[in-house]
Amino acid sequence: MNSEEKNAHYKHIFEKLNGLFAVCSNSVARMTTIAAVLHHKMDNFLWTGYYLLKDDNLDVGPYQGTLACMRLKKDTGVCWSSVNKKEVVIVPDVHKFQDHITCDSRSNSEIVIPLFDASNNIVGVLDVDSELFSNFDEVDALNLVAINTLVFKQYE
Ligand code: SME
Repeated sequence: MNSEEKNAHYKHIFEKLNGLFAVCSNSVARMTTIAAVLHHKMDNFLWTGYYLLKDDNLDVGPYQGTLACMRLKKDTGVCWSSVNKKEVVIVPDVHKFQDHITCDSRSNSEIVIPLFDASNNIVGVLDVDSELFSNFDEVDALNLVAINTLVFKQYE
């Protein structure tokens, strides 16, 4: 899939999710649905899901993929780096990222998107791992940021 096709595919997913969420404001239900749709509709998504901040911990949330680490040690790894910077983090080769936390040894690249609530407080991250090296780019970043805004979107 080239960049243009990937972008169009993401837009289609965004519209589908946007339609589904109009009838359900439950953020857990929405995160669960986002993880399921992305995991099964995007190519090469090995693990797709959320880590959520709770009492200064990042605990696993709704996800698709093999068994994940339950809790990520504070200020360690890619997810915490995204939380601390409040920015998207793209890691082309996780083996070169200092203190990367390995939940699945097949993972070679990763993207982490911060999740903000309706008051713009950071409440967690969306994390996607891939078996491919350099699987994620700006097209993924822009579209996954947009999709994450749907978790707390309010509909009239
Ligand atoms: N690799 C992550 C940990 C979560 S797993 O990828 C599911 C990290 O270093 O934060």
